[in-house]
Amino acid sequence: ETTQLKDIVAHAKEYGFVFQSSEIYDGLAAVYDYGPNGVELKNNLKRLWWETMTQLHHDVVGIDAAIFMAPQTWKASGHIDGFNDPMIDNLDSKKRYRADVLLEEKAAEYENAGDPARGAALTAEMGRLLTAEDLAGVRQLIIDEKIQCPVSKTGNWTEVRQFNLMFSTQGSAVDSDAPPVYLRPETAQGIFVNFLNVQKSARMKIPFGIAQIGKAFRNEIVARQFIFRMREFEQMEMQFFVRPGTEGEWYDTWKAARRKFHEAIGLPAEKLRFHDHDKLAHYAKAAVDIEYEFPFGFKEIEGIHSRSDFDLTQHQNLSRKKQQYFDNDVDPATGKPYGNYVPYVVETSVGADRLFLATMCNAFTEETITEGEGDAQQTKTRTFLKLHPAVAPVKAAIFPLVRKDGMPEKAQEIFDALRFDFRLVLEERDAIGKRYTRQDLIGTPFCIVVDGQTLEDDTVTVRHRDSREQTRMPISELRSYIGEAVSF
Ligand code: GAP
Repeated sequence: ETTQLKDIVAHAKEYGFVFQSSEIYDGLAAVYDYGPNGVELKNNLKRLWWETMTQLHHDVVGIDAAIFMAPQTWKASGHIDGFNDPMIDNLDSKKRYRADVLLEEKAAEYENAGDPARGAALTAEMGRLLTAEDLAGVRQLIIDEKIQCPVSKTGNWTEVRQFNLMFSTQGSAVDSDAPPVYLRPETAQGIFVNFLNVQKSARMKIPFGIAQIGKAFRNEIVARQFIFRMREFEQMEMQFFVRPGTEGEWYDTWKAARRKFHEAIGLPAEKLRFHDHDKLAHYAKAAVDIEYEFPFGFKEIEGIHSRSDFDLTQHQNLSRKKQQYFDNDVDPATGKPYGNYVPYVVETSVGADRLFLATMCNAFTEETITEGEGDAQQTKTRTFLKLHPAVAPVKAAIFPLVRKDGMPEKAQEIFDALRFDFRLVLEERDAIGKRYTRQDLIGTPFCIVVDGQTLEDDTVTVRHRDSREQTRMPISELRSYIGEAVSF
């Protein structure tokens, strides 16, 4: 039986990974909280991304910009005028939909029914109408395609309107006429407006990058599929500033590097693919998504965008502050320095929550196993999370076999010796099999058992999550053994 999203949602809740926000008040749509295991897993993913960017790449430095920015930022970036989704309401159900998503789903329906040409034609027509901002045409297409409301099964549609995705709030406590401040819809602009601050203070030479992890907010019309599309989410973005004319090479370089990252944290190559954009965002000259095959199909987890000098030029024009770099490298064509220019930007942008969801979906494993001997033999389903040890919330669990004969004390000793290096749990309660199961469910790669022999020769058994095999090893080797497994 194949894993479905509902299995992941139920598991994430039951074992403390993800909860619906404000659940006791029936939740807030498309907002989620991370539980004790979820926050560890998410922090591990963020840390690996951060170290990959700012440690493995000598030419990338980090920042942490504020969520609130001067309102002009969003005028310059194009978000006030262009960050819209086409929205349509169904009059019977009073439900709101994204017009483009309804059409995409219809196109997928044709594809699944063995008529991919018709699906592609529909997608192309929708793209043409949206680019031409022909919203009446989009509505007509929905009617012509006889698309029904998924809830009420009627085709009673309103007109299509553009809906801006930015959240805003009152920025001034004293001046009620002050313009609203926005909750940033992407972290990227905090990097663009700090371009010169970072370049000068960190003495960076082009090409170089600036990395950031932080919250972003979008008032998504279609908020479904668990943490795939949220109203409050976290982005991990890197803007790489390059000399104009070299952006093509850097786009290819980052495209390859980012795919490698996803494979390194355990996402299998066959579940990843590139998808070139046919509809480009307002800032992009070229764009590709890295998609992961979720239980609900291949969907974007990361975008790589060639943004040209769009953002820096826009900020230069609106702020009237030069956003230029003096490049004293010599241009072989002229024999003179390249001189002043507004750099081009290649951006990599991955959602921490989507990466989390991909990781959970990939790790969730159900296998049929046989236990016991002879008449007592039985088969059962074992559920476990096959997480890469580097991202697992708990690296090892330490169990005294029984609560006597000095075993708990010995287990405590091991725990105290390793707690500075790894996140561990120490558990004495319940039968050993039950304790293994609990760790399997949260993806702990190793269970270390202290038994009678441990007290004699200072060896323990190490039980492996994926194979359930046990090996005996000296306590003194545990640190290097676990350390090697959890390294990335
Ligand atoms: N600065 C470029 C940018 O923001 P994007 O393609 O709109 O590009 C980048 O977003 C990534 O952010 C996406 O690939 C996705 O992983 C994540 N993301 C975007 N909207 C999201 C949402 N509503 N919920 C969760 N993640 C989201």
